[in-house]
This record gives sequence, structure tokens and C-alpha cells, in this order.
Amino acid sequence: MTDKKLNVGIIGCGKISQTRHIPEYAQNKNVNIIGYFDFVAERSAEMAAQFGGEVFNSVEAMLANTEIDAVSVCVANDAHADITIQALNAGKDVLCEKPMATSLADAERMVAAAEKNNAKLMIDQNQRLAKSHVVAKQLLDRDEIGNVLTFKTTFGHGGPETWSVDPGANTWFFDKNKSKYGAIFDLGVHKLDLMLYLLGGKVTSAFSWLTTLDKRDSNGDLIGVDDNAISIYEFNSGVLGTVTASWTYYGEEDNATIIYGSKGIMKIYDDPQYSLKVILNSGEVINYEIDRIQTNDNQTSSGMIDEFVDSVLNNRASIADGASVLNSMKAIFAGIDSNEKGQKIQVN
Ligand SMILES: NC(=O)c1ccc[n+]([C@@H]2O[C@H](COP(=O)([O-])OP(=O)(O)OC[C@H]3O[C@@H](n4cnc5c(N)ncnc54)[C@H](O)[C@@H]3O)[C@@H](O)[C@H]2O)c1
Repeated sequence: MTDKKLNVGIIGCGKISQTRHIPEYAQNKNVNIIGYFDFVAERSAEMAAQFGGEVFNSVEAMLANTEIDAVSVCVANDAHADITIQALNAGKDVLCEKPMATSLADAERMVAAAEKNNAKLMIDQNQRLAKSHVVAKQLLDRDEIGNVLTFKTTFGHGGPETWSVDPGANTWFFDKNKSKYGAIFDLGVHKLDLMLYLLGGKVTSAFSWLTTLDKRDSNGDLIGVDDNAISIYEFNSGVLGTVTASWTYYGEEDNATIIYGSKGIMKIYDDPQYSLKVILNSGEVINYEIDRIQTNDNQTSSGMIDEFVDSVLNNRASIADGASVLNSMKAIFAGIDSNEKGQKIQVN
């Protein structure tokens, strides 16, 4: 352990910053928040007034500040890669929001920049630290349900237009130039990354079907990105699974994962009371009452900010370092490619 404090800057002061990054940094006694930058200067000013720190008027001005050790990149998807690489090249450690980047080449450039600068790059794949997922991983690692054969995992809610700090049909989430893809980037990325984290290994082939069923922009036209995506992934272990992402599950969120093994079934965030259930082939049912999944309406501490801070201060790999998330991004982009080509894609 070290007594050094981490001096951080926040780039992008929208909803995810306001609900997770900024309050979780503020609660971490090993952190000083030095300042904020957002396109919308009043937003940075509000955060500075509430949590302390200064307002920067550009990314460059923030990165030129030699006091700052690390930054959170919480902007729209289109700017993740460029700002992250700029920050890494300025010698800062970076916690970047998901989806890591809007192209595989950009995700690879981010990992290369972290390596070149000997800096930390963590991606906020917070499902890895959700409490029931942590316990699920321990049980899977000790073969509680035997050899995993298949899975189905889902993340669906009513869409990001009520979540964003700029809500409504004009949200950047619906703008292909800013988001690049829709539900698959917002939600599918979380679940595929989770499955690779829980089960290990790599995806060897991918097939995704992206479609826009219902979401409309302010002109009443269907949005230019997917509001539903269903994917099939094959892992090098032979596991075959489906990942469903939806912005049209109106009324109730679904964040459930079901894993089928040779000795039993594991259900995670499938039951409102028991967030983890193991149903063995013998008929025995083991119920774990751990937590409720974070939803848009149930924001709890993600633990990811503390993890980032600790990994930097103690110079260790984080739970979601850039290289491990690149593994998920390869599979996501293979699926997207398959949607465009209409055929299954092998992943190198
Ligand atoms: N890890 C998670 O569970 C999770 C949850 C929600 C959002 N996110 C991700 O966080 C990122 C931000 O999403 P959000 O929900 O906060 O959106 P939001 O619309 O609420 O806020 C985005 C903010 O970023 C600012 N911004 C956008 N581009 C910018 C740029 N290039 N430079 C400076 N400021 C910029 C906007 O002015 C706005 O204040 C997205 O990539 C999103 O996918 C992750």
C-alpha cells in the first residue's frame, strides 16, 4: 500500500459521470478530484460546485495539468478512443467508459498507447464486479455446475432516451455519428464481456442480427442504429451461447444470465429475491440472496472506480484492463460484421 493520493480529472460530465464516476471518486479517501471538462461548460461548473475542483475549457487544458495523474473518459462513444489515446500519450492513466471504441482498430490503438506509455487503461465493464457475478465466477471456477455447455444472457430495458443527461428522441445514443451502434454497443457489449470474463477463453465464431424495430427520432423516423440485437457466439472451449440486447423492453428491465453445465444450471439476476441460484441435476437447489442488479432506477456503487484507483496506486492490473476488454471487442465487431455480410464470421 502507498500513502499517495490519486489526482483525477473527469472528461464528460453526463449521467454516468454524475451517478458513478464523480460520487465514487469523491467517496474514495485516496482521491483528489482536480477538475472537469464537458462540451457543456455549465455541467462541469455544477460538478465543481458540488464536489470541488476546477473547470477546464478543453481536453488539452486538462491534460496539460501536471497535477493530474489519471482521467475518466465519460463522453459519447465516438470520442472514447481519441481522448483516451491523447490522455495516455500525456502520461495519464485512463478509466474509459464502455463501449471501449467504435472500431476494432481504435480499440487496438488504445491498448497499444497504454503499453507504449506504460500507463494503465481500464474499461468500465462494471458487470464484472456486480456482486452476484463475483460469486458466480467463484462457483464456476470450482466447477459447481460442471462443464459449461451453453448460456443465454440478456440485457434489455426501455432505451437510453430517459437516461441521458440530454433526454429525449434527440439523444446522442440514437445518432449513428456519435454512438455508431445502438443496443449492441450500449447493452450487448456488457453481456458478452461478462460471459468471456466468467467463462474465460475467446470467441471463435460470431453471428449477430441487428435491427431497428420501434425507436424513432424527433422526425418520427426509425433511428439509424439498432434497437435490438441478438447474437450467437461460439467459444474456443466449445461453449455456444446467445446474447440479447434490447432497447424495447418497455416496463421492466431484464438483466438475466442462465448458464447450463453438465452438473447443473446457474441463474443470475433471474429471480427478484435470489440473485443467484444453482439448480443441480440431483434436484438440489441452492439459493443465494446477494443483491439486486443495478438498473437505470437502482443506482448503487459500481466498485469500478475504487478498483481503478487501487490498481493505479498499487501498480497492478485491474479487473478490466484494456487488453482483456479488447478480447470482447473483437467478438462484438465480428458479430457486427456478420450482420452486414449475413453470414457467420470466424474470429482470428
Ligand atoms: N458502464 C456503464 O454501465 C455505462 C452506463 C451508461 C453510460 N455509459 C457510457 O458512458 C458514456 C457517456 O454516457 P452517459 O450516459 O453519461 O451520456 P450522457 O448523454 O448522459 O452524457 C454525455 C456527456 O458527455 C458530454 N460529451 C459528449 N461528447 C463529448 C466530448 N467529445 N467532449 C466533452 N464532452 C462530451 C456531453 O455534453 C454530456 O454531458 C457513453 O459512452 C456510454 O456508453 C456506460
